[in-house]
Amino acid sequence: MSQDILIIIYLISSILFIFGIKQLSKVKTARIGNFTSALGMLIAIVATLFDQKIVNLELIFIGLLIGSLIGAIMALKVEMTAMPQMVALLNGFGGGASLLVASADYFKEAPTEVYIAVTIFLSILVGGVTFTGSIIAFGKLQGIVTEKAVVYKFQHPINLLLLLLTIIGGVFLTIDQRTSSEILSTIGLGFLIGENLLITIAILSLIIGVLIVIPIGGADMPVVISLLNSYSGIAAAMTGFVLGNAVLVITGSLVGASGIILTNIMCKSMNRSLMNVMLGGFGSTTASVGPGEAKEIVIKEVGAEELAMMLDGASNVIIVPGYGMAVAQAQHVVKELMDELEKRGVNVRFAIHPVAGRMPGHMNVLLAEAAVPYDKLYEMDQINDDFSNCDVAIVIGANDVVNPAARNNPNSPIYGMPILNVDKAKTVVVIKRSLNPGYAGIDNELFGYPNCLMYFGDAKASHFKINSRIKRTIKNKLFLNYKGYYVTLCFL
Ligand code: TAP
Repeated sequence: MSQDILIIIYLISSILFIFGIKQLSKVKTARIGNFTSALGMLIAIVATLFDQKIVNLELIFIGLLIGSLIGAIMALKVEMTAMPQMVALLNGFGGGASLLVASADYFKEAPTEVYIAVTIFLSILVGGVTFTGSIIAFGKLQGIVTEKAVVYKFQHPINLLLLLLTIIGGVFLTIDQRTSSEILSTIGLGFLIGENLLITIAILSLIIGVLIVIPIGGADMPVVISLLNSYSGIAAAMTGFVLGNAVLVITGSLVGASGIILTNIMCKSMNRSLMNVMLGGFGSTTASVGPGEAKEIVIKEVGAEELAMMLDGASNVIIVPGYGMAVAQAQHVVKELMDELEKRGVNVRFAIHPVAGRMPGHMNVLLAEAAVPYDKLYEMDQINDDFSNCDVAIVIGANDVVNPAARNNPNSPIYGMPILNVDKAKTVVVIKRSLNPGYAGIDNELFGYPNCLMYFGDAKASHFKINSRIKRTIKNKLFLNYKGYYVTLCFL
């Protein structure tokens, strides 16, 4: 296939990627967006196989076969809650591939043009950091590497020094090779000339990847993974320059840009700066309030019978899912609750916080899996003002995203984080197993609010009970709520 035709085909697949991303930004078109992007990738792969520069098609097919098989098995087996570590692995492989391809290009023939040498260096640096950083992120989420933030003295200066050494190595790699060899020999580092220099840069990059992720606590890994996803795109774009491959430059740039936008959205929704995440240590403390501020809260419990009657008497119900719903895999029973209430004429909506759960879109994916219609899902900004008109807000396994301390307590670590205003509802029912904190490791003052009722139990098991009680409730009754006291009048 001629290079001109190849470029046109690459252009078509790049357009498909861009359309695919656009479609992915809306729930309704997300499925077709996935298909559009996958089609773009298929076209790009098939076209590349016809590239005359390819020297060994057999090896490529063997790799394709093994990779596709492993990928398919992993995708089929992975639990929804383990998706972040799966993404981490995929990012890591992307970074590792960029490192290998750029190194291979250098070994084939040392570049004479400066910009090629610079892109080879950047592919190796960013690819290497992405590879080991992602493997550590995977290990932390999988429980293979300690989830705790590993901190030690002079950690950041050491990381900076290693980065500086790598960049100096990069300068020697890119300048005129004779000058580079002369300087290195003069300072007694003659053994670092040429390929040895490249290997040293690669090793340093791999070490930096480990060292920058190890001080970050397991809970912050989704943000790190999103950032590493962006890095893997940047590394791929750099490799695209090395190979003179336009589709790799475009797709790498798309991944790099979308990854950094997502990282930014996640940080904003958590009211954290990227620097704060990257410096590590978040979530290792459990204090929620300032010194002397700890206060006892009095909680009120509700049972399945009472809750069923309360819901039966409601007109407007907003369900707020969180990480606990994902852990309990309660999305199907939550959908059943929605159906039962709708049969009784109750208006049921879902309020989705941007960082509910542990990965972007976590709640949307689970609820879509349970066939909850898209138009029932409301983003925080769309629904937050409606909580004051809501009879019952049901919080299922969510904690931080409904903690009013984010609004009220300037000493709270989550102060300033936008939250769902469930406390403004006439009644809020929180379904979780205990009073234990969530991801941020802080107490939730909502649980002691006069309009808050706690239903203790696993989200799925609790819903089985609540749903079966609702199915048994009779229509002709009146439910009254006065300052947190509930009276039910039944007319037989
Ligand atoms: P969390 O604040 O983490 O709270 C989850 C709650 O679920 C826990 O308090 C836990 O309480 C409960 N739970 C766990 N297993 C349960 C089960 N089987 N049944 C019922 N409840 C269960 O969750 P959230 O409100 O969704 O907030 C998400 C947090 O993750 C935020 O702080 C956010 O910043 C952070 N985060 C999110 C992301 C993304 S992109 N989503 C990325 C990084 C960090 P019990 O143990 O008492 O049951």
